[in-house]
Amino acid sequence: MSKWYKIDSNRTSNAITFFLSCAFSSSTFPANLRFASYLKSALVASTVPRAFGLSPSPSLPNPPTTKVDGPIIMLGTSGVRALLFQLLLISFVFFSLVGNGSAGITSSFIRSEWPSIDIPLDNEAFAVPKGHNAPQQVHITQGDYDGKAVIISWVTPDEPGPSKVQYGMAENQYKFSAEGTVANYTFYNYKSGYIHHCLVDGLKHNTKYYYKVGMGDSSREFWFQTPPEVQPDASYTFGIIGDLGQTYNSLSTLEHYMQSGAQTILFVGDLSYADRYQYNDVGIRWDSWGRFVERSTAYQPWIWSVGNHEIEYMPEMGEVVPFKSYLHRYATPYMSSRSSNPLWYAIRRASAHIIVLSSYSPFVKYTPQWRWLREELTRVDREKTPWLIVLIHAPIYNSNEAHYMEGEAMRAVFESWFVHYKVDLIFAGHVHAYERSYRISNIHYNVSSGDRYPVPDKSAPVYITVGDGGNQEGLASRYRDPQPDYSAFREASYGHSTLEIKNRTHAFYHWNRNDDGEKVATDKVVFHNQYWASNMQRRRLKKNHLRNADGGIASY
Ligand SMILES: *[C@@H]1O[C@H](CO)[C@@H](O)[C@H](O)[C@H]1NC(C)=O
Ligand SMILES: *[C@@H]1O[C@H](CO)[C@@H](O)[C@H](O)[C@H]1NC(C)=O
Ligand SMILES: *[C@@H]1O[C@H](CO)[C@@H](O)[C@H](O)[C@H]1NC(C)=O
Ligand SMILES: [Fe+2]
Repeated sequence: MSKWYKIDSNRTSNAITFFLSCAFSSSTFPANLRFASYLKSALVASTVPRAFGLSPSPSLPNPPTTKVDGPIIMLGTSGVRALLFQLLLISFVFFSLVGNGSAGITSSFIRSEWPSIDIPLDNEAFAVPKGHNAPQQVHITQGDYDGKAVIISWVTPDEPGPSKVQYGMAENQYKFSAEGTVANYTFYNYKSGYIHHCLVDGLKHNTKYYYKVGMGDSSREFWFQTPPEVQPDASYTFGIIGDLGQTYNSLSTLEHYMQSGAQTILFVGDLSYADRYQYNDVGIRWDSWGRFVERSTAYQPWIWSVGNHEIEYMPEMGEVVPFKSYLHRYATPYMSSRSSNPLWYAIRRASAHIIVLSSYSPFVKYTPQWRWLREELTRVDREKTPWLIVLIHAPIYNSNEAHYMEGEAMRAVFESWFVHYKVDLIFAGHVHAYERSYRISNIHYNVSSGDRYPVPDKSAPVYITVGDGGNQEGLASRYRDPQPDYSAFREASYGHSTLEIKNRTHAFYHWNRNDDGEKVATDKVVFHNQYWASNMQRRRLKKNHLRNADGGIASY
């Protein structure tokens, strides 16, 4: 990968030489994905190639033998040579005009977005369930280290009512029950409803459970599916959403996500954006958000991590306890990973070990979070959970103007660990756009000496920013120019991602742009596991790819 990652001054001639060799052996061309991506990135920046269907604009039909879908290029063999010659001519002109570009792709797709305003409170998206004191804002999350427990949470508006969950393996047959807790809080003059949290444990893996909360006529029923046992080849699909908020774009993201078939959300912080309001409206917008996401959160676990919008340090309203609303409302199983704080913790689910960090809690050397992470990394067993995933809010590698370098402090403290432990993927939010990095690291620089710039590093994670859930602050559409070498793909559109773990070596990753109602898979990558896909396997895989030319999805 380093070959196409680092584009030096010889890039233009290299590219053309390479292109020539491809053009005359068309069977190898479809497999040369990096070049295809590279070429496309160059082409989308110019106006000429629209005629070739290489523009990402969905309204332009593609030529019959060429299917372009994000950074993926598939070419049939017939007609390839003619097309290649045309492309070759254009690229000659293009490359000689443009000396300094980047290996990554900056998508020029522009969507006509819905306005970035919150959905009005009386909209049915926030409907209050019928019945006296009916449970609302129902949400579940994993309740233990290994996925045999859930924490079920809900709010009763009028009186505390029972904190009991009845559950069982068949609809309407609730053989078991568990007892939870109830609490309430104030924020300025707002008084919260009664917030219930109930741990339901001792569950069987891979089993559908039905559950019921509330009393009598206003009780409500839901279901969830437990994950497979923790083992290295367990396949499992995660969704990734960040910075969701409660606008029409948020609703679009949520609805698209729910069609994806993914089983658990990895949420990368900034939930409700209630802190954009003042006084009593802050609490009211936390409640509306809880009702808004219930359509998903009541049926599958959302793995929470915090963003800056959860801090709610609002001294002007007399509210100075950080994370007050969030901590009352969203529980995490932090104690089962020996954490001392709900804001950072870890879980194991199917074949993944997921580490949740807090960008807004102390993490420098010797702090509790730093010490906890150091210990937790030693507990990761890649023989059991091949996939090591970290969730944070502020991205470590981000080339958007928004929040540029806000992740530097955490990078300086943790990056060498991420590389040492071969973390597969680090998901972040915060920047309201999408970006994926190459495997790079910057761990040699220190204040006296060493390399200053990120370099390709096979042991490094891929960093993915998915802060594009659709909140009221709108999109972050200004990227730094030129695109830095570490950035593989970036686009300022709303959407969500899915990570389809197949087994210990392969995971299929997609970023899905909302695209005004349609779900469009825009960035697709096959990830090879950092622990199991050894260099040997990698080489063999690459060779197979070259031989088979099988649809051509970029892989790392
Ligand atoms: C919680 O609810 C109880 C009972 O309704 C009430 O007396 C108390 O003031 C509430 N506490 C807070 C912090 O709102
Ligand atoms: C700083 O960088 C130099 C050169 O790479 C290296 O020899 C030294 O060990 C580094 N020091 C620390 C504290 O990382
Ligand atoms: C893992 O999954 C990939 C993709 O589905 C497949 O090609 C590969 O053969 C699988 N490996 C094993 C050991 O099953
Ligand atoms: Fe944020």
